[in-house]
Amino acid sequence: MNSSAYFHETVTKVHHWTDRLFSFEATRSHSLRFENGQFTMIGLPNPESPDGAPVLRAYSFASANYEENLEFLSIKMQDGALTSRLQKVQPGDTLLVGKKPTGSLLLSNLLQGKRLYLLGTGTGLAPFLSIIKDPETYDLYEKIILVHCVRKKSDLVYPQYLKEELPNHEFLGAAVRQKLIYYPTVTREPFPAQGRITELIQNQKLFTDIALPAIDPEYDRVMICGSMAMLNDLRTMLVQRKFAEGAARQAGHFVIERSFVD
Ligand code: A2P
Repeated sequence: MNSSAYFHETVTKVHHWTDRLFSFEATRSHSLRFENGQFTMIGLPNPESPDGAPVLRAYSFASANYEENLEFLSIKMQDGALTSRLQKVQPGDTLLVGKKPTGSLLLSNLLQGKRLYLLGTGTGLAPFLSIIKDPETYDLYEKIILVHCVRKKSDLVYPQYLKEELPNHEFLGAAVRQKLIYYPTVTREPFPAQGRITELIQNQKLFTDIALPAIDPEYDRVMICGSMAMLNDLRTMLVQRKFAEGAARQAGHFVIERSFVD
């Protein structure tokens, strides 16, 4: 990517959730346009590289497309090509942000439906943060079910935002309170909803807990974001249940995106 392929933004805030997860905000150039659910390449200037080429990785926008700042959620990996450096960013540092956002987790890639399931593991929550801030999501669906599955309770990032801030949001609050169901699940510690998303669909605990019928392609639409193994397992389960994958050229019952892994 040449240097005109990305904007030079400035980091404004950094929040460390755990020793494995952090999020950060940055300024946003007025000409950066994206759709909620999309991702773009981001990186840091790399003065040590012989040709000055930065290391860039795909990151979903956690901020909505109408917000003034950009926000991203990241894992920290000690030997990660980008995250080993990115986890040390401080307000005032330069962040490179790709000018060509893309991705398939778009409302427009889904056929009309009644309920929207957003199924994310780990940092796969990020694109869904932008989607649940989108007023169109609430116009299109009767219920939006956000399922976030993580290893440990402390990996359940943005708890305060999801449980308090968003339901009390000035413009979206009423729709959020009426339509959004936040369903956190944990796999490696005791928790009220314990288990992988795949298991909770298979044994129907998810549907029992939220008092909705089991997913059905006639009514339900699904967006999935997580590791390759998680995407493959969930895709198989949905295809078995007669869900068709959607894309820009043909809307379907579900769409998937791999979450960033360094
Ligand atoms: P588990 O603890 O049983 O591995 P990670 O941090 O590795 O990305 O995992 C995030 C969450 O996704 C964990 O709770 C993990 O469960 C779960 N997970 C990992 N692989 C799969 C899969 N193939 N299908 C569903 N969930 C998965």
